[in-house]
Amino acid sequence: MKISVIGGGPGGLYFALLTKKARPDFNIEVIEQNRADDTFGFGVVFSDETLDEFFSADPESYELIRDDFSYWQDIVVQRGSERTVIGGNGFAGCSRFKLLEILQQRCEAVGVKLSFETRVNIEMLDEDFADSDMIVAADGIASAIREKHAAGFGRTVENRRNHFTWMGSTKPLDAFTFFFRETPEGHFCAHTYEYEKGKSTWVIECTPEAFNSCGFDGMTDAESAQFLEGIFKEELDGHSLITNRSIWRQFPRVSCERWHVGKTVILGDAKASAHWSIGSGTKLAMECAIGLSEAVLENTGDIDTAFKAYEEKRRTPVEILQHAADVSLRWFEQMARHYRKPQYEFAFALMSRSKSITWDNLSLRDEKFLAAVGNEFYDTLRQKTCHVTEGAPTPMFTPLSLRDMTLANRSVVAPMAQYSAIDGIPNDWHMVHYGARGTGGAGMLVTEMTCPAPDARITDACTGIWNDAQQDAWKRIVDFVHGNGDTNICLQLGHAGRKGSTHSPATGEMDMPKATDNWPLVSASAIPYHAGTSAVPAELDNAGMQRITAEFVAAAQRAEAAGFDMLELHCAHGYLLASFLSPLTNQRTDAYGGSAENRVKFPLEVFKAIRKVWPEHKPISVRISAWDWAEGGVTWSDILVTAQAFKTAGVDIISVSSGQTVAHQKPVYGRMYQVPFSDFIRSEVGIKTMAAGNITLPEQINTVLAAGRADLVALARPHLNDPAFTRKAAGHYGVTQPNWPLQYQTGEGQMLREAEKEREKTLETARKLRPAHRHGAGGET
Ligand SMILES: Cc1cc2nc3c(=O)[nH]c(=O)nc-3n(C[C@H](O)[C@H](O)[C@H](O)COP(=O)(O)OP(=O)(O)OC[C@H]3O[C@@H](n4cnc5c(N)ncnc54)[C@H](O)[C@@H]3O)c2cc1C
Ligand SMILES: Cc1cc2nc3c(=O)[nH]c(=O)nc-3n(C[C@H](O)[C@H](O)[C@H](O)COP(=O)(O)O)c2cc1C
Repeated sequence: MKISVIGGGPGGLYFALLTKKARPDFNIEVIEQNRADDTFGFGVVFSDETLDEFFSADPESYELIRDDFSYWQDIVVQRGSERTVIGGNGFAGCSRFKLLEILQQRCEAVGVKLSFETRVNIEMLDEDFADSDMIVAADGIASAIREKHAAGFGRTVENRRNHFTWMGSTKPLDAFTFFFRETPEGHFCAHTYEYEKGKSTWVIECTPEAFNSCGFDGMTDAESAQFLEGIFKEELDGHSLITNRSIWRQFPRVSCERWHVGKTVILGDAKASAHWSIGSGTKLAMECAIGLSEAVLENTGDIDTAFKAYEEKRRTPVEILQHAADVSLRWFEQMARHYRKPQYEFAFALMSRSKSITWDNLSLRDEKFLAAVGNEFYDTLRQKTCHVTEGAPTPMFTPLSLRDMTLANRSVVAPMAQYSAIDGIPNDWHMVHYGARGTGGAGMLVTEMTCPAPDARITDACTGIWNDAQQDAWKRIVDFVHGNGDTNICLQLGHAGRKGSTHSPATGEMDMPKATDNWPLVSASAIPYHAGTSAVPAELDNAGMQRITAEFVAAAQRAEAAGFDMLELHCAHGYLLASFLSPLTNQRTDAYGGSAENRVKFPLEVFKAIRKVWPEHKPISVRISAWDWAEGGVTWSDILVTAQAFKTAGVDIISVSSGQTVAHQKPVYGRMYQVPFSDFIRSEVGIKTMAAGNITLPEQINTVLAAGRADLVALARPHLNDPAFTRKAAGHYGVTQPNWPLQYQTGEGQMLREAEKEREKTLETARKLRPAHRHGAGGET
């Protein structure tokens, strides 16, 4: 078998080495345009876990690389002169030059043919490699082979916002260090680490604002270096920046839908790039080299099956890593916003940016750092609210006040339609459902969307609050919750708009029109939800607006009579008020359509009207869909206008959801996937926020809160499965909750003991699972 590898970077060389080592009979060549000792860039970083993998794949190269490691455990976050150290992170750095040299030596030792200073003419690829059974496109991020077969590979390349340049320095560093600088021109971050004694990598990135104001575009490498030496003068401490083809670039985010075209298979950066802020590009290239080599060796003589096996093995890990890298690069794109955070919140937010590092696993890495994060959180709370926080309950178990309402903790049962009412009246189901969740320890419980009129309902089975029977039934539930703990209860008020008069999930398809007895629909514009299937709503006119506003006001008055602690106005998920906010559903030409300022007018009118009748001391929240997940939907600047308008009108907290505006939405789900919107609104508008969406663990709640990304965290589905979610979380953190119902109190002691045992067990397992720091040449440094 003849295999031609185009590109002698870490991906191409490692694949060639592993495959030739296992099959000396294969004819394998690597063709590289540069000289053997000609490498660009300075150092590369590997985590302990990656090194373990390299050790199993080829112990010989591993041993050689290991001798050249710089090894460190600390990450330092330095903002101006403020320095925060986070320990317990195992990383190793070595020079890219050394890594390539070792891989080249190993390739030669096993018999791979290496040709340097040979540039492959990609136009003639098929002709020039007609006798090869397989071509490996390992030609890097700008891959000409990928571009030649762009359609075949289904490739996407997206240039990201920030600009960066890769430089080096002789400045010694004892930790992986992020140096942040705020200048009149904009924000900078230098990602730095020492990869050899006295040699450090300095990847410096800045926002486009800073890039343009500084005029880097017209500068030579040397001029850029000089300018940056001025910015990082104190950090460089007399050392200079060294350039090596250090041009300014924007990171191209590359992905491919298919990984092979004919006999050509794609590898490394050419196939999928991972932003360098998580230091994983080389790791990804080398891990994929392991995957491709195994697939080829397991399917000798059948390259089609081998390519399929390679993709099957590697696609998910690649996508997971790329996603983490995307989230990370976005964090740096928003660094100007994060820069305003207090010291430990800033460092914690940076550490937890790509979601794999959480409150709990940071407690394993560096307890002292986490204690400092907690103390800063409690101190800020004390200063702002005079709430006394005893001990270290973790952010989740600190109180939050909204007007005169104080929640005992930050965990919220999110609104969840039960579709179980008859004539809008909550019944035994609702009593048991809300009763269980209202005694499960959460700080607050939000009811399902409840409607101010019969024709405001989504389905026949929605709850309402337009008559005495409904009001009384709600009062019974509210009284029960109030009488059996300290959970507060909030009524979500909403009008279905164009998504009304549909089947409940139990009787048919969601959002599809009922078979009979339909009521007329209204919406911001006369656009049906499902074109051709849903009824066409009437564009809501002024008389309709007045009628509906009055219905909301009457419902708010009934909510007060029923004893609710808070109201939430539902302006999310494509229902009536949301239909005004999104340009996809609001195409009006009157004062309520067009600009974001106009689109928020009707929801604001409703809010102001209910605010007038709702007691001054009680808060009101508004839930919005901050993103439509569809082209032409709300924009970042729309979100600002909407949130700012609600803040000015007196909204106490914004509950940040997303989507369900249009049927053709394409949401990108993932852990905590809506938190970035909450983070954005909270820091840009300065209003409290409640985050929700795929948050399933107490440690995620603490991570969101400690990173300053929300004030409350709402969980829906986890509360369907476990009404006592918050109580168990309290046990997990060893927090005693004062609000246990009398009847259940004997359960608390046992739960706390069991939870402590469980916590110890988890910590022990995690400690054991941590890779031994055996990679450092002379042990740990
Ligand atoms: C600023 C920056 C910082 C980074 N920091 C890190 C880090 O800390 N840790 C980390 O793991 N990764 C880091 N990376 C990423 C890392 O450099 C790459 O992910 C890794 O090198 C990818 O390996 P590869 O083999 O796929 O491609 P490359 O290393 O790019 O190799 C491709 C090779 O193909 C050759 N080639 C291209 N076209 C032809 C042709 N027509 N004929 C012959 N040869 C050709 C090129 O000369 C090159 O040598 C960083 C990247 C950047 C840009
Ligand atoms: C069964 C169910 C019913 C829901 N009903 C409502 C509702 O009435 N009002 C609302 O704003 N959101 C509703 N949602 C959305 C949730 O409040 C929440 O935002 C969403 O489920 C994401 O959170 P999760 O990942 O914790 O489930 C509902 C979700 C579920 C699962």
